[in-house]
Amino acid sequence: MTELYKIGQFAAAMLNAATLDDLLWSIANSIGKTLGFDNCVIYLNVDELLIQKSAFGIKNSQKRTLLNSIIIPVGQGIVGAVAQSREAEIIADTRLDPRYIHDKFSGRSEITVPIIYENKTLGIIDSESAKHNAFDNSDKELLQIIANIAAPRIVSALYSSTLDKTQRQLEKTNVKLKNSLYKLKKNQEILIHSEKMASIGLLAAGVAHEINNPLGFSISNLSFFGDYYDNIKSMHQTLLSHKELPAELRNKLLSDDYSHTIEEIENIVEETNGGLLRIKNIVSDLCGYIRNEDRGFSNFNINDGIKTALNMLRGEIDNDLNLELTLENLPNIYGNKSKIHQVFVNIILNALQATEKNGLIKVKTYRSNNHACIDVTDNGAGIDDKDLKNIFTPFFTTKSVNKGTGLGLFICHRIITEEHTGRILVSSNNKETTFCIMLPFLNANRQLKELELQY
Ligand SMILES: Nc1ncnc2c1ncn2[C@@H]1O[C@H](COP(=O)(O)OP(=O)(O)OP(=O)(O)O)[C@@H](O)[C@H]1O
Ligand SMILES: [Mg+2]
Repeated sequence: MTELYKIGQFAAAMLNAATLDDLLWSIANSIGKTLGFDNCVIYLNVDELLIQKSAFGIKNSQKRTLLNSIIIPVGQGIVGAVAQSREAEIIADTRLDPRYIHDKFSGRSEITVPIIYENKTLGIIDSESAKHNAFDNSDKELLQIIANIAAPRIVSALYSSTLDKTQRQLEKTNVKLKNSLYKLKKNQEILIHSEKMASIGLLAAGVAHEINNPLGFSISNLSFFGDYYDNIKSMHQTLLSHKELPAELRNKLLSDDYSHTIEEIENIVEETNGGLLRIKNIVSDLCGYIRNEDRGFSNFNINDGIKTALNMLRGEIDNDLNLELTLENLPNIYGNKSKIHQVFVNIILNALQATEKNGLIKVKTYRSNNHACIDVTDNGAGIDDKDLKNIFTPFFTTKSVNKGTGLGLFICHRIITEEHTGRILVSSNNKETTFCIMLPFLNANRQLKELELQY
């Protein structure tokens, strides 16, 4: 085999290498085979550290597996010295060279050639032999030519591998950007919805405020009316007890018609008072809900929350609807009261919207381990199996545009699971749909004591 033929073989082998890794393994392999060396190791210089990257012979136990791979700093040992001096060396007897670094596969003689590109050491080609003085100058010259041919190929492979990495990173960044954009869009939609809700809230707050004043004087007038009416009744008794009252007048005062009127006035005052107080409750709940005064966490009673929600939904509740409340006495919950009220309103409203006339809605509170549970059950339309997995997804709705936005349950889910570490479970069959809200009692012992104190 002529020298030229060997170089040709080597150059041809390099041509087939697609990646940096392929190239380094192909260099080691074709040097070993073409030059008839026992072994060969290729080092790459990475930040002044020479790292073994590929090998032929004893160090390459299986396909592309380096045994006992070592790292040598530039300047240390024979390999490090050659990397520093950029001068190839032959060591006839390694035992006589103090720079020689012994490893598991120590040889008797060694040839070390630098791979240089633009005056920098890219790496090292190193071969050891079990024989004394196994290498001569012609090996050194040939290996240096091979190293010089390999150098620009290594540079371009390093460059493409950096390019590949950058491209992969760019692709990853691109995917991340797409995800962020999607999330941003979703958040924007939610924000727009919140904005709309805020405007509606302001409007409702204005109306509630306007109702408050006439409501105030109506309640106070009715209370005066009650007092005046008591005066009239006592005057009535005084007249009747008067001995000289003309018979005609006495008969009129005792007539059925007159007694009925007196009784009815009493009932009307009582009913009107009840109605006005109910309006007052609704308005004050509405104001609290809209102003969202209670932004922080506090202890509050779940059952009161249910009653508040029902008060607010009074307008939506049909007279024909059957409402069944089973509220168990529970310790207070520590949470954001107005947000939890919002959840009750949304879920009960969904149940109301799902039920027909004469429907039945059951609201039940109870304790399960360390959780307060609220079940809202309706016997309405039910939820299809295929829809069940979507109902908490933002904007999923089966209602018409004017009826639903599909955000109610999404918001409820976030409030319960993320803000209160609770859970919402749902089950639906052709008879009943139940939403179960579970809220943890944070400090079970403290809560139990509170419960004992309540009784
Ligand atoms: N009790 C229920 N019975 C039947 N279907 C229900 C019930 N509760 C929720 N759903 C279904 O889940 C969907 C999503 O409910 P969600 O409260 O999130 O939105 P929505 O009620 O449609 O609109 P909104 O944003 O006004 O609340 C509803 O459109 C409905 O199909
Ligand atoms: Mg809803």
